[in-house]
Amino acid sequence: MNCFAKIWQFAVVLSLFVTPLVWAKITIYMCGDSTMQDWYESAYPKQGMGQDFGYFFNADVEVYNAGRGGTTSQTYYEGHWLNNFVKNGVTYPAVSGLLKSGDYVFIMFGANDNGYKTGEANFRNSIGGMVTDARAKGAYPILLSPIRRSSFVGADSVYESYHAYPIFMRRVADSLNVPLIDLDTLSRNYLISVGEYYSHHYVNMFIDEGEYSTSGVQSDNQHLQQMGANSMARIVTEQIRVHKDANVKKLANYLAPMYQVNVNVSPAGSDSATTLSSYYPQGMKVTLKTTPKAGKTFLGWFDANGNKVSGNAVTQIRSDKMYSFVMGNKSTQYTAVYAGGSAVKSPMSGNALTTFPQSTPKCLNNDCSNLNSSSSGSFNPEEEEKMNYDIKKFFDAYEPDSGDGFSENNHVGYTGQGFFNFDNSKNSSAFYQMWFPAAQRVTMGIRYSFKGNSDRLVNIYLDHDYYVSFKSTGSFDVWDTAYVNIDLLSGENTLQFISMTDDGGPNIDAFGFSIEGVCRASDVNCKVQKQDSIQGNSSAKDSSKIAAIRGDVLRLTGAGNALVKVYDMNGRLVKREMVANVSEVPLSSMVKANGIYRVVVKQGVANYSATWAKVK
Ligand code: GCU
Ligand code: CA
Repeated sequence: MNCFAKIWQFAVVLSLFVTPLVWAKITIYMCGDSTMQDWYESAYPKQGMGQDFGYFFNADVEVYNAGRGGTTSQTYYEGHWLNNFVKNGVTYPAVSGLLKSGDYVFIMFGANDNGYKTGEANFRNSIGGMVTDARAKGAYPILLSPIRRSSFVGADSVYESYHAYPIFMRRVADSLNVPLIDLDTLSRNYLISVGEYYSHHYVNMFIDEGEYSTSGVQSDNQHLQQMGANSMARIVTEQIRVHKDANVKKLANYLAPMYQVNVNVSPAGSDSATTLSSYYPQGMKVTLKTTPKAGKTFLGWFDANGNKVSGNAVTQIRSDKMYSFVMGNKSTQYTAVYAGGSAVKSPMSGNALTTFPQSTPKCLNNDCSNLNSSSSGSFNPEEEEKMNYDIKKFFDAYEPDSGDGFSENNHVGYTGQGFFNFDNSKNSSAFYQMWFPAAQRVTMGIRYSFKGNSDRLVNIYLDHDYYVSFKSTGSFDVWDTAYVNIDLLSGENTLQFISMTDDGGPNIDAFGFSIEGVCRASDVNCKVQKQDSIQGNSSAKDSSKIAAIRGDVLRLTGAGNALVKVYDMNGRLVKREMVANVSEVPLSSMVKANGIYRVVVKQGVANYSATWAKVK
């Protein structure tokens, strides 16, 4: 009894003193997927960005890494944010239930959303749900566009691996007025600045034989290794320090002191890559690594006193090219010494840093002189990669082979016969049957117009999604050309335009490519061109009578696909469809209203036209 009372008293005393302090702590919740989560030591050096994030903050801040691998914004919102998650008997409480006033929530999604095709509406709904919940609890949400994969398409260009999702994240941030850290752009810049080899082997999970006890050979350009995860986290802290949102900037007051680690190579040029000089908070594990050039002999890592270091803070390291230590509270330096070299011994001041980088410039070897610096301010995904604006031939977009919308000419300034007006609804489409001479990466130009307050997003699909965000031209009579780089597929393929926004796509006048030899499959000359390319194969021939209407059915008999178009009595094209060679097409399903229609069938050079009435 006595003993019990004592424990009870002790608990009261403890709660009086300790609990208020615990409550006063700010917690940062890190929400995201496998690029955010904590990884087991057995997966080392794989690490999520949230894993060591806590080291960057002082004792007043606690970081709770709530990243869960494989999640999309939607599965995370439903399975981890709103509800508890149970795995292997462990319950991970719903994040929304943990938040208290003054906490921060970092939300980074897009990688798996792209793979699972969440779509903008679901993405907006899930991210928006987290934002609203967090705000309702008095917490501050911060959105992060996803870290880009190190998928290089040129020395100064990294593939937009997550397509529209970084754009979606920027849009949610804009529309809900949530502070954004545009990590997609910042990581892209960082990857370019360090180059492809470094990005692969020092940022992402390209692991060579014998480097770690825990990881075999890997070449994964998406997941981060310890050095990369902490570089991305450091970039986030740099943005926190200078953020225009006052609540985000306030977090900078809680950042821990940072210490410089200068890294030298001696003799200079012996390496093909070495861990870059950087800065770290106390307690964080730092890995130094060097990759010798062919024929160079690495002697070891040496400290600022000229002593060769040994022992490793990271027990999984096996390579003698690596050294890891726990960051102390003094700035310092290390040298990767190769045969013929010596350690840099001049000691550093040891002082903590007082100034920090404010941006992540997209420069190779810090030399920005030969990079096009036109893109300041707002990020334009079309500037991602170099474009070839020399479009060899434009194709009239007026009549797609099938689509939802109208072939029209009721605005001025178009080329050819007119333009295609997408039905103003999501998923309205225009399909063009094209023939491409080769599979190669090209620039596609799309001449378009529209007037509206919000951008119209279109997925230009050719085996992959290529998202183009069209900006208003200010008038349906004013035309502009948007460009996107795409990978062509050789031979006959369907080029699809699918609108991603409720107001449909822009009016499209024409589209073309930066290579010669592309043609539309329905074009007679294209048939010649295709046959030339397959060495005189002449199996396709035209018959004079290719179609007939019997009752409500259009019967097709010729060889090759046929383009069926149905016009109403005002001459307005109400349906167009590419159909297979021998087929019966039920005409009544092609039009909605009863009335008289003109049916035009085009198959190669053969044409057929007849009038038909829908009466039922
Ligand atoms: C107007 C315009 C159309 C256009 C449409 C749209 O109706 O005349 O050409 O397609 O707006 O908003 O998409
Ligand atoms: Ca339209």
